[in-house]
Amino acid sequence: MKAYSKLPLYFLSLTLACAATSPVRADDAAANIKTDAQSGLKIAPGWQAVKANCTACHSAKLITAQQGDRETWLKIIRWMQNTQGLWALDHTTENTLLNYLATQYPPVWNGRRANLPAGAMPPNPWLP
Ligand code: HEC
Repeated sequence: MKAYSKLPLYFLSLTLACAATSPVRADDAAANIKTDAQSGLKIAPGWQAVKANCTACHSAKLITAQQGDRETWLKIIRWMQNTQGLWALDHTTENTLLNYLATQYPPVWNGRRANLPAGAMPPNPWLP
């Protein structure tokens, strides 16, 4: 009987154990890309600068789950500086971060074809 009272604790530790597993993205593992065991960031030029400047407030997963070109990453950085308390970055550091982010986490083709032109579609029977 007493063992059952510990059941929530087992679930909690299971959850924590899962959360503590490697933050590596499945596609990185498949492509054999080396990642930092702690943050999950890809090991490539500039990764330490990203770890130093970008993981103080949140997990690096917010970064590795994001994709964007240089302009998109710059917008994200400006948004955090203007609204989330990210500190000012000197030009060299910002350049290093942007080079890393835009190269390692670039936009990815999402697999959808463009919409067909309206004229190529059959008439929509639900239109009034
Ligand atoms: C001073 C704190 C702070 C630092 C340092 C910081 N961020 Fe953030 N960032 C935030 C906050 C707060 C959010 C919003 C988190 C949330 O929505 O839960 C955020 C969100 C994000 C997001 C998600 C944006 C979205 O559209 O959902 C990305 C990507 C990101 N940060 C990247 C970075 C990068 C890259 C750096 C380094 C240049 C960085 N962060 C450094 C505070 C910070």
